[in-house]
Amino acid sequence: MKIHNFGAGPCILPQEVFKKASEGVLNLDNSGLSVLEISHRSDTFQSIFDQTKKLVLDLMRLSESTHEVLFLQGGASSQFALVPMNFLKQKALYIDTGVWSAKAITEARKFGAVDSIKNTTDEGYLKLPDLSRMKSEDYDYVHYTSNNTIYGTQFEDVLKTDCPLVCDMSSDIFSKQIDFNLFDLIYAGAQKNIGPAGMTLVVIRKTFLDELVKSKTIPTMFNYQNHIEKSGLLNTPPVFSIYVAMLNLTWLKDQGGLSYFDSYNRQKSFLVYDELERNSLFTPKIYVGSRSSMNITFDLIHPDLSTDFLEFSARKGIHGIKGHRSLGGFRASLYNALTLNSVEYLVEILSAFEREHVN
Ligand SMILES: Cc1ncc(COP(=O)(O)O)c(C=O)c1O
Repeated sequence: MKIHNFGAGPCILPQEVFKKASEGVLNLDNSGLSVLEISHRSDTFQSIFDQTKKLVLDLMRLSESTHEVLFLQGGASSQFALVPMNFLKQKALYIDTGVWSAKAITEARKFGAVDSIKNTTDEGYLKLPDLSRMKSEDYDYVHYTSNNTIYGTQFEDVLKTDCPLVCDMSSDIFSKQIDFNLFDLIYAGAQKNIGPAGMTLVVIRKTFLDELVKSKTIPTMFNYQNHIEKSGLLNTPPVFSIYVAMLNLTWLKDQGGLSYFDSYNRQKSFLVYDELERNSLFTPKIYVGSRSSMNITFDLIHPDLSTDFLEFSARKGIHGIKGHRSLGGFRASLYNALTLNSVEYLVEILSAFEREHVN
């Protein structure tokens, strides 16, 4: 039976990427060596590293003359601390849209003053805050999470600020066409649309580096400048994650790049939201205007049917749709590698479940 993987991350990647990755593990480009056993200082790995960087910049339509690309370890969670450690001097503004941004705020407060904005209406994190009157000119930077993986909210447009802009793009990076040049620092854990877990992508505008905190107390590995000075090879990088990211970003580019996935992902998410609105048993959690095209959260109108639905969908080959433990309900993640066929299949399962339970 085909398994349709709707997991939130680590998540589905294209089958052909898995196949090429396994070939690289056994015999990298007919070298007789595995990608796992070559030196990160070898020409072979340097070429993988350079190609991955180039793919990132090309997909973002940025240039290496204006931006630095780093592949770090420690997950997006480490960036919650590295960003303020390196850039928070006086005060930063954080947009609080739930668990991940709240964790970023907790870390930032260890390094300086932080103001935060959140939606204070009854909808809480199920609706994005209104930022139309946000004043940002006095801050070192504004930080936000473009897509909130747990709740299923997503900012449609890039935030407009009068100070540097920092974004945790972990769960919607490379899923749509945006102007990446509007950001001063972007970070993203790899394990959604980039590749396997173990690598965190950080892209920094070079001119933003002029604003670095000049402190000798930043530990060596946590100082962006040290990584940049060593061209991203300050220590052993996450070689396998970088290799598979190269394969996956090549696949992404070959499919048609970000403009292709922009419309493909919209098409997929419309299908699911449409069905959730139509189906008499289910309802989307998120308010119109805040809905994510990557992570769709929903509830059963009769929660006592939850176990039935999970068992029913598992029997049909649907994997990973249980909602996050902090929120309950269900979540269907529609990352780039998830096909329209799988989404149509999910819609059919939702409707079949309704047919079984509604006379
Ligand atoms: C939006 C967002 N930020 C941060 C994280 C944490 O990432 P990591 O596990 O790489 O630290 C996640 C994990 O899913 C996430 O979805």
